[in-house]
Amino acid sequence: MLNKQSTSTKNIAANIETILYDEECIKQRVKELGSQITRDLAGKVSSENPLMVIGILKGVIVFLADLLREIDLPMELHFIDMESQSAGTRETGLQELDGRISAAVKGRYVLFVEDIVDAGLTLSFMTRLLWQSDPSCILVCTLFSKENNRMMDIELDYVGFELPPVYVVGYGLDHDEQYRNLPFVGVLKQHNR
Ligand code: IMP
Ligand code: MG
Repeated sequence: MLNKQSTSTKNIAANIETILYDEECIKQRVKELGSQITRDLAGKVSSENPLMVIGILKGVIVFLADLLREIDLPMELHFIDMESQSAGTRETGLQELDGRISAAVKGRYVLFVEDIVDAGLTLSFMTRLLWQSDPSCILVCTLFSKENNRMMDIELDYVGFELPPVYVVGYGLDHDEQYRNLPFVGVLKQHNR
């Protein structure tokens, strides 16, 4: 299965059991998502009212870097770091951390970008918080979705791939902070999990 691995990451790729999505396949899908977003939002955002793209750190960075370059619309880029918030201080911490984001959201088109929506807790929390700042519209784009694991009722506007309930790494996604630099997405060998 490892016939399409990149030579630049062959050391870490040795820990991968199966590649689920190779570089070409991801690239093609990211292109399609970018075109779809561009088509849907053309005429709704402008240089006076640019799209607010909000990336949820940090698994999203690789996907987001590629997606941005496929969106042909005026836009601003923001990030929210959920991982730095402990459960007890999440709400207040985020409001303080992202005061600049909430101040700018009123009347805007917002596109949340995620790497994976699993149970949906992160996204449900983020959208609930952001609606308080009165945006015109919140759209959600995720590269992967694990619908079978969902605990929250959330609407996804753009989904790259529907995943089976397996843990995947690569293309920004980690296992204990490693493997984000793999150019493809796959499942780790049993003894590396
Ligand atoms: P949720 O709040 O349960 O939807 O969790 C989503 C977050 O969990 C993602 O943004 C990832 O950071 C992490 N996550 C869920 N599934 C995976 C996976 O298969 N690989 C890597 N990270 C994952
Ligand atoms: Mg994440």
